[in-house]
Amino acid sequence: MENLDDLQNELVAAVNAAATLGAIEEIRISALGRKGRVTSLMKGLGALAPDERRAAGQSLNVVKSVVTDALESRRDALSEAELDAALARDRVDITLTARPENEGRLHPISQTIDEIIAIFGEMGFALAEGPDIEDDFHNFTALNIPPEHPARQMHDTFYLPEQPDGTRKLLRTHTSSVQIRTMQNCEPPLRIIVPGRAFRCDSDMTHTPMFHQVEGLIVDKTVHMGHLKGCLIEFCRAYFETPNVPVRFRPSFFPFTEPSAEVDIGCSRSGGTLKIGEGDDWLEILGCGMVHPKVLDACGIDSTEYQGFAFGMGIERIAMLKYGMPDLRTFFDADMPWLRHYGFAPLEVATLLRGLTP
Ligand code: DAH
Repeated sequence: MENLDDLQNELVAAVNAAATLGAIEEIRISALGRKGRVTSLMKGLGALAPDERRAAGQSLNVVKSVVTDALESRRDALSEAELDAALARDRVDITLTARPENEGRLHPISQTIDEIIAIFGEMGFALAEGPDIEDDFHNFTALNIPPEHPARQMHDTFYLPEQPDGTRKLLRTHTSSVQIRTMQNCEPPLRIIVPGRAFRCDSDMTHTPMFHQVEGLIVDKTVHMGHLKGCLIEFCRAYFETPNVPVRFRPSFFPFTEPSAEVDIGCSRSGGTLKIGEGDDWLEILGCGMVHPKVLDACGIDSTEYQGFAFGMGIERIAMLKYGMPDLRTFFDADMPWLRHYGFAPLEVATLLRGLTP
């Protein structure tokens, strides 16, 4: 049998000289694999006399374990070195500025919602949400729009297939349904705004089947129309960033408010361009009113003790007015050049202190 010390020294030296994980594996196979040198010597033990066999067997086991240990520690050292190299190679400098050509833009709807939240948030309103798929009760009946009411036709509702009990769910036609859910689930006083999607089967220059609204609701013991006016005038001034923008409350009708009003802001349209805050033209931007006692009662709030005001406005509409987009449908075209033009820097957060728009 060959000299085992020489064999062990030779193998350990080879292991320590191996430069890659692949080279280590080759040495392992050539020494300890099925046809490896150490394995072959072990197979040859059977031909030896019993005494010789025991001594040689013990020595071979020592060689095997020394080589195995050497392989393992070399493998660990190389893996660690490889990891260090990868970490050094893949290092990212997080202090580098973004590449402007790769920067994403915030959609004007998102920006407008952020601005609305910043303004009403400052006035102490909390955010509320509700489901896009609604039932008849929350979207209509509880809002004082009973089954045969003409307002149901005006809403061009998308209905879902009939359920086994004969009822049909629908896509909410306005965010007013969240007024109902909030009043059912929370104790007054309430002060919420609800930005969200609404759906109506309608499509032209000024209507898309899906659009966004923001609903507002206050319920308390002494709120009155004066609070409603003050709150919405303040909103218009802050949102259009025009301190003296004229605001007009015009009597109107909604089943869920009494009295009801629509709010117009002053503008001029001379020369084909729209200017907010000057001239003597008017533009309608929202509907509002004092919450109808029947609506409070439908939600289990005592209308002899509590009253409230509510408002609702179209987000696309006020975004178009502020940022001068002529066609509503372009909001949903997912057109990159449009988004680059009308979009907003994503990290400039809208606040009243620093200014709403970057
Ligand atoms: N829900 C109405 C619509 O979609 C908007 C509206 C008007 C909401 C008056 C209100 C309100 O809360 O008081 O046309």
